[in-house]
Amino acid sequence: MSHTRLFIPGPSEVRPEILQAQTAPMIGHRSGDCDALIASVEAKLQQVFMTANRVYILASSGSGLQEAAIRNSVRAGQRVACFVNGAFSLRWHEVAAGCGKEAVRFDLPWGQPVRPADVDAALAGGAWDAVAVVHNETSTGVASPVGEIAALLRASYPETLLLVDAVSSLAGDWIPTDAWGLDICLTSSQKALALPPGLAFAAVSDRVLARAREVSGRGWYFDFLVLEKYLVKNTTPATPAISLLRAADRQLGDILAEGMDARVARHGRLASLTQQWALSHGFGLFAAEGYRSQTVTCVENTPGIDYAALSRFLKARGLAISNGYGDLKGKTLRIAHMGDVSEAEMQELLDALSDYMVN
Ligand SMILES: Cc1ncc(COP(=O)(O)O)c(C=O)c1O
Repeated sequence: MSHTRLFIPGPSEVRPEILQAQTAPMIGHRSGDCDALIASVEAKLQQVFMTANRVYILASSGSGLQEAAIRNSVRAGQRVACFVNGAFSLRWHEVAAGCGKEAVRFDLPWGQPVRPADVDAALAGGAWDAVAVVHNETSTGVASPVGEIAALLRASYPETLLLVDAVSSLAGDWIPTDAWGLDICLTSSQKALALPPGLAFAAVSDRVLARAREVSGRGWYFDFLVLEKYLVKNTTPATPAISLLRAADRQLGDILAEGMDARVARHGRLASLTQQWALSHGFGLFAAEGYRSQTVTCVENTPGIDYAALSRFLKARGLAISNGYGDLKGKTLRIAHMGDVSEAEMQELLDALSDYMVN
């Protein structure tokens, strides 16, 4: 079946063998086979997240785990600091406010990262239950130094939990959850993990579970204490997405066979290829230098390309990129380089873009 190959920032391309893995017959979710499947996925996730802590597996998209992170980490009457430098960090603030929490928003210029100094200035003199930050702002192509933010919190705000959205970077960038001391690191299946949408994963520290015990109104579906009770028995409180878990088991195995070092290095090469192509064709790069994403490049539309015409041209070649996000539509274009994309495939896309530029 012919299809349009996606260089959009999610969903990303899923290899046929991974799609195929979903077609195995159903098993009961209270069976030993299902427990074994979950145990296998869990062990692989811990390696990909570089954590010895549990990784919860949810049948939801990443936004569900943004909600879970907030619901389990912020006590009544306490505050969460949300750093907003793009559309998805803005969403996270909306999620926190929507959960009825006292969510304080700190705005930074889009295109800039969240730096430790920004966090320090915002938190100084106050008590905060949590800081919520997006590692890789998919709307702007900016990666923030979350490891440095974690170090700041441990040194100066030890009671404050760090909640990290790594939805568009985990498995495409270097995110050593435990070495950096991230309390929650969450992601979605459909980005750099190159799985179909529908699963979300979160590495969660013991500190978070201790906090959750002090938080009322955690709900049920996203209650970490409920999830923990079941995960220790390699199962889930509600029916898991069995077909997606089969795909995840296979894909995580392939990711580990590639090796996290090699996978991250490949993403780095794809990002460089894309950035160099943009700069050599008269485009700018929206993200601040030194903080450019490994998985998505947000290109400033300096030459004033007509996105609709470009999109039609690419579609005729079976390729797709993305427009800018929200207010950045037309002003920027987004080219994703995440998942299992090879350098040759990336070059094919860039060659097609070059052809459009000369026509
Ligand atoms: C950084 C970031 N956070 C959160 C989300 C929301 O994730 P989901 O669509 O899986 O709920 C996205 C989606 O693109 C994202 O890029």
